[in-house]
Amino acid sequence: MSSSPITLEELSKHATKESCWIVVHGKTYDVTDFLDEHPGGSKIILRYAGKDATEAYSEVHPPNIVTEHLTPAQQLGPITLPASTSSSSLAAAPAPPAELSPEQLDRLVLLSRRPPIDNILSLHDFEAVATEMLSRSAYAYYASAADDEITMRENHLAYARVFFRPRILIDVSTVDFSTTILGQPSSLPIYITATALGKLGHPDGELNLTRGAGKHGVIQMIPTLASCSFDEMIDAALEGQTQFLQLYVNKDREKTKSIVQHAEKRGIKGLFITVDAPQLGRREKDMRQKFDDTTDGSAVQTKGGDKVEKNQGAARAISSFIDPGLSWKDLDFFKSITNMPIVLKGVQCWEDAVLAAEAGVAGVVLSNHGGRQLDGSRSGLEVLVEVVRELKARKLFPNPKFEIYIDGGVRRATDVIKAVALGATAVGIGRPFIYAYSSYGQEGVEHACQILKDEFTMNMRLIGARTIKEIVPAMVDASALSHHSASVPSDRLFEANYASLEPTRLRAKL
Ligand code: FNR
Repeated sequence: MSSSPITLEELSKHATKESCWIVVHGKTYDVTDFLDEHPGGSKIILRYAGKDATEAYSEVHPPNIVTEHLTPAQQLGPITLPASTSSSSLAAAPAPPAELSPEQLDRLVLLSRRPPIDNILSLHDFEAVATEMLSRSAYAYYASAADDEITMRENHLAYARVFFRPRILIDVSTVDFSTTILGQPSSLPIYITATALGKLGHPDGELNLTRGAGKHGVIQMIPTLASCSFDEMIDAALEGQTQFLQLYVNKDREKTKSIVQHAEKRGIKGLFITVDAPQLGRREKDMRQKFDDTTDGSAVQTKGGDKVEKNQGAARAISSFIDPGLSWKDLDFFKSITNMPIVLKGVQCWEDAVLAAEAGVAGVVLSNHGGRQLDGSRSGLEVLVEVVRELKARKLFPNPKFEIYIDGGVRRATDVIKAVALGATAVGIGRPFIYAYSSYGQEGVEHACQILKDEFTMNMRLIGARTIKEIVPAMVDASALSHHSASVPSDRLFEANYASLEPTRLRAKL
């Protein structure tokens, strides 16, 4: 690393593809050789060539990711400012701005208009508030799903095709909904599933989830593509708090190995390998919104991958490193590099669940990625029924060494109870927690957990189950689950929040 400070004049000379320097947090970096490796493509970096990229960088990247991915020789040292420059953002420790930016002012106004958190009665309410709080591009990224979004809506609606068969006259003075997930204690049969780019919704990003989940004894699954760094999330956890890691497998297996082994060393208790994303789905709300330059990138792995144009949306812009060649054969590699239990996230039929059980992994998540991958996939709830039936037929289930989780569309404790009755150990919840922290930060995450706990207490009493073990298949009627044309009452809260896809239109008259 060069020790002599770089001048502004020198910096400005390196503003091309052939020689590209940028400044982040007062330090200068030569990113010329990194341009083609950047998961968001080179264009976004070139926009800041020879300039300060701090603001755009900070929106979604963890502070130290830049140093993790550049060699010491590419880290050129501090930038010096001419004496006349007073409070430029180029300074290592910039003075606070005298005035708020229009965006900051807008956010303050929105914060003051939020309903008091006590007015948030259900997870649906968070989404209603978040739609107003989030920028258009952030909302497009979070809410979007693949193609016509049929699977995303089905994920939720499938729960309405299962009805309860409650038992009566059971002493339900006390109910206990605590359980274990992969052998780890959990206050509820839910976990916060991995969702990327947390800082699009709130400056503290995924740390809101770590802290909120910790207070409620809920497990957080850390995403590969988090906006906060992995270590930040581990450091923010309470003593003894359980965290899992979601893994997108990099084409560069050495990179994957170092991520996995670092995670194990830092106490991660389960490795969830995402297997439903050899290519990211087309999420047209996200694509139409375009990927705003200032929200490019994330704490991602950086080797290999195609260049991605930014008009493909945030999702595709950050995911080009994912290996489409991942196959069953790779499971031995993962078993050889870690002792963490391995779970396959994104299984969608009984045949693959059976293969997974036979391969000796610790579990599967029956998931279609929140409807963001293959549109037309069935809901995890529907897949659960066939998976349990076929595993049982092969004497592979129940099995203390193989657990089944599902995710997608879960918004109520009753949804979770239906999944547990049908054989799931736990369910993952994604968007509702994003909307909770986008609207109310950590307090939102805590309130969301509390809502689920309150709903659990009431609904376990009402179906006559005192413990999770007492929630049994006979308590549900799932006979309509696979009848996709069955008439169900419409869910008005869900539909009120759902933003319709929009076709492209003629441009305004000149
Ligand atoms: C996701 N999901 C996801 N899954 C994964 O394995 N890696 C990831 O990086 C992401 N990122 C991501 C971002 C956003 C914004 C969403 C909404 C989802 C999928 C996620 O883990 C889970 O499968 C779904 O979110 C579950 O559906 P609900 O609860 O959002 O309806």
